[in-house]
Amino acid sequence: MSAKSKNRPVRKAVFPVAGLGTRFLPATKSVPKEMLTIVDMPVIQYAVNEAREAGIEHFVFVTGRNKAVIEDHFDVQPELRQTLRARDKSDMLDLLANSQPEAGRTSFTRQQDPLGLGHAVWCARDIVGDEPFALLLPDMVMQSDKGGCLASLMQVYNQTGGNVIAVEECAPEEVSSYGIVELGKTVGSGFEITDMVEKPKVGEAPSNLYINGRYILQPEIFALLENQKTGAGGEIQLTDAMLRLANDQPFFGFTFEGDTFDCGSKEGFIAANVSFALRREDTGPIVRKIIEDMLDR
Ligand code: G1P
Repeated sequence: MSAKSKNRPVRKAVFPVAGLGTRFLPATKSVPKEMLTIVDMPVIQYAVNEAREAGIEHFVFVTGRNKAVIEDHFDVQPELRQTLRARDKSDMLDLLANSQPEAGRTSFTRQQDPLGLGHAVWCARDIVGDEPFALLLPDMVMQSDKGGCLASLMQVYNQTGGNVIAVEECAPEEVSSYGIVELGKTVGSGFEITDMVEKPKVGEAPSNLYINGRYILQPEIFALLENQKTGAGGEIQLTDAMLRLANDQPFFGFTFEGDTFDCGSKEGFIAANVSFALRREDTGPIVRKIIEDMLDR
């Protein structure tokens, strides 16, 4: 890979948000799972904020039916703005302004069939075009004192170029829920990835380092996704296409050290709510007291 392509900036981020969220029925009958809130902010907003903090300029959402409210969430609400202005609620106005990408900096496309994560990413190919991009799986919500996971990934990418994915350790019996990587030699603050496998059987995984849902990928992945055969679970798997891309391009890993909550599961979603509520200045003390009182009962 040439030095020029190594340094190509990452301006766009893709957010696959087409999933049905059946694990959260009946809540997700009419509300997309990405709009469920952690304290007072929808799950999708955490991923968008993380991307903005990492310098992303354009936000690409791969949606599905019944997800239009996500598009509304990232639009301005003139009546609400007017009311807040009239009531002199400048803190709320700032909050809304800060949660919103600039005009012309969002794109929405639809994954028309639920064929897997690889297919969802491929649906963004025309909007991303021929440049490296970030990919954030919004179900995975991260919390860290050392800055966002994508910002750390960008730092590694600036050292290594190529493709970079964030990983974390999981319990050996959990490997079959995730994409798992094999660790090669250390490179800067990351390491080379020598193998990847999607949802391996327990005992057959190359390590217990799982892909946590944050990626920086080169656009050549799209041509591979176009003809990617189905893999684990009968779905078109991104990990399988990444493994093919690794024949031509380097892949690096970075171990994220914060807390990650899988908000696609009830336990993860509840844990995220408790953790964010406890660590926030406005809610922390009172929520701590409520939990302590409950545990004492
Ligand atoms: C997807 C990826 C997997 C990754 C996981 C993280 O799986 O395919 O490699 O580890 O996200 O959440 P899914 O959760 O869609 O089954």
